[in-house]
Amino acid sequence: MRTQVVIIGAGPAGLALGRLLEQAGVDAIILERKSANYVLGRIRAGVLEWGSVELLDRAGAGARMHAEGLVHHGTALSFDGDRMHIDFTDLVGKQVMVYGQTEVTRDLMDIRQGTTVYEAEDVQLHDFDGKPWVSYSKDGTTHRIDCDFIAGCDGYHGVSRASLPASAVSTFERVYPFGWLGVLVDKPPVDPELIYAHHERGFALCSQRSPTRSRYYVQVAADEKVEAWSDTRFWDELRRRLDPQTAERIETGESIEKSIAPLRSFVAEPLRFGRLFLAGDAAHIVPPTGAKGLNLALSDVALLGSALIEALQDGSAAGIDTYSVRALERIWKAERFSWWMTSLLHVFPETGDFGRRIQRAEFDYLMGSRAARQSLAENYVGLP
Ligand code: APR
Ligand code: PHB
Repeated sequence: MRTQVVIIGAGPAGLALGRLLEQAGVDAIILERKSANYVLGRIRAGVLEWGSVELLDRAGAGARMHAEGLVHHGTALSFDGDRMHIDFTDLVGKQVMVYGQTEVTRDLMDIRQGTTVYEAEDVQLHDFDGKPWVSYSKDGTTHRIDCDFIAGCDGYHGVSRASLPASAVSTFERVYPFGWLGVLVDKPPVDPELIYAHHERGFALCSQRSPTRSRYYVQVAADEKVEAWSDTRFWDELRRRLDPQTAERIETGESIEKSIAPLRSFVAEPLRFGRLFLAGDAAHIVPPTGAKGLNLALSDVALLGSALIEALQDGSAAGIDTYSVRALERIWKAERFSWWMTSLLHVFPETGDFGRRIQRAEFDYLMGSRAARQSLAENYVGLP
């Protein structure tokens, strides 16, 4: 078999790239290790920068997002119960769209016309420095696909980055000593906007998926077990970390999903190895605090998509030659912002009294300074 681009991974990065290529008439096959239902079962973040909204529109995948997504004009931050409003529209004239990653993935799957091989086992990358090809097995048969380019969109644990010689990649990493325990519940959100809360017991987040479905998180120790958290314990802990008015208004209920996610900052450099390119979580991880993971994945593939189209259709290497440098510039800015939001809002084992006073001073500075709030808003809605 032969195609122009083999895309490894059918997460949002792989599916969006596949769509951008097929719109331009470039032939691509996606190889995904799991089933479509498994991919759709993963609950992840749900805030889209406006650039991501526009990309999904261009991809022809925006209809349901505009019908069901919730446009947010701002967000709330709270520190030991004191609340502050960050008004994106007033500060930077932009908004975000609250629409779950699961829904983005479903919409991209629904419009895809090209081939996606689900449950492709033992995917292996070959000769990506020369004439690339990819092998995989399905139902006991091994297949070979020859191609011009390989796009590694297979997430942090994928095979693409793992196939590179260690000497070819530099990695930069920070593992945080805590995780987020998340609960999904079919109850209306406590507030029209998201609330990011710092409390001496730890961080908490009130998020949402729809007018009738909410997503809440609390910071927990990295080695915490989800089994140790009954719904009652979760709701009690969440309420303790919020301002009293919000705590009182929360509508609790039986959780429909509950899981713990570790927090990590990670970047691999470079993103190009001959005819292999990395994009999305395969190349970088951000802690979820700034809601940047999905957005970065989409901005990577916007760059990579046009670079591959240029290379295949115009014979110009300009895009593929500069992809890594251009994508990394944006990636590091999002890494910085996610790290900063995480540092401001979480309790670290080493924070101590001095550290908490500094966090409080940072919060007070934001409250008192339009310039500081503008910087937060500019990053949150997404840099160009
Ligand atoms: N072979 C084929 N597919 C693979 C392999 C493999 N060896 N390893 C992983 N995959 C698949 C995974 O099953 C997954 O469906 O690659 C896909 C990667 O998808 P994501 O992890 O969702 O990564 P990405 O598409 O880059 O999206 C980034 O996901 O984790 C969030 O915060 C992150 O929102 C961001 C988004
Ligand atoms: C979510 O709704 O899951 C969510 C929202 C905002 C974040 C992180 C997660 O910063």
